[in-house]
Amino acid sequence: MVGVMLDCATSPCRGLPSSLVPAGTEAERVATLFDGLLIGGALVWVLVIGLAVYAARVNPAGHSERAARRIIVWGGIALPTLVLAGLLVHALGLLGELRAPADGLRIAVSGERFWWRVRYAPDAPMQDWQATFIDPADGAQGTGVDTANALHLPVGERSELLLYSPDVIHSLWIPALAGKIDMIPGRVNRLVLEPTRVGTYRGVCAEFCGAAHALMAFTVTVSPRAEFERWLAGQARPASVDAADPGYRAFLANGCGACHRVRGTPADGRVGPDLTHVGSRLTLGAGTLATDAAGFARVIRAPAHVKPGIRMPAYDMLPDAEIRAMAAWLAGLK
Ligand code: CUA
Repeated sequence: MVGVMLDCATSPCRGLPSSLVPAGTEAERVATLFDGLLIGGALVWVLVIGLAVYAARVNPAGHSERAARRIIVWGGIALPTLVLAGLLVHALGLLGELRAPADGLRIAVSGERFWWRVRYAPDAPMQDWQATFIDPADGAQGTGVDTANALHLPVGERSELLLYSPDVIHSLWIPALAGKIDMIPGRVNRLVLEPTRVGTYRGVCAEFCGAAHALMAFTVTVSPRAEFERWLAGQARPASVDAADPGYRAFLANGCGACHRVRGTPADGRVGPDLTHVGSRLTLGAGTLATDAAGFARVIRAPAHVKPGIRMPAYDMLPDAEIRAMAAWLAGLK
């Protein structure tokens, strides 16, 4: 059984993810372009239908050949050429403006099967970013903050996403903020985001990438700069762990640390998502479950039921008490 899909109409993100309700500069431009095309298309339709009605009903008698030729030259050649050329110039102008380099944050996002690896490393030089993508273990050490399935952005600033995928092609799309862009193995694509409204938005994968393609969502939290800084500082701190916690001990004893990292503990795996502050995320399993003890327990017991094609093996052979202790401990990693 597939996990409960978080419904955006209720929580955690308000409203449907729609590019027609923009909350970012690029989405606003695209929505304006869409409105212009819609109105222009409607006007052309009315004109063509009007002419057809006129020719068929109002004045069905024969028309002169000269009048017919004039309609074809002006209405069939000159008008479309002007309109399409105007649109092309306008759209090409938008492209340069929206793809201009950002002056703010740089965030690396890698499309995994089937979740989003997110890395904030404010001071990393460009070559370290490449290493971050190719082999996360060799990435910019020390300064980085790793998280998963959650983007946080300061409002009103141009932040740049560097997008990559280690194996299959994904496409990152946050309809409220900007257009979609592919994440392609072997190259780094860039997307500049400039959110204009504070809020929580939903992002999705927009390119079929495998069995759990439709279960690959993420949240985007847009907040004022000070709040964003507080969040980043909180994420940079290692996990606060009670060494005697039975959940923590079971997590280490069962080898979870081979794939997952919890900063501040011996668990240092980089294959799966970083779990240092996993309890503070809005969703678990890339938008499929809530980050509560019940959600963690489901993933530990039967990950493939929550998400077909997931690389994590099932741990349903563990004693129930151990699974519950681990789930409670993970949910408490705020
Ligand atoms: Cu990732 Cu579709």
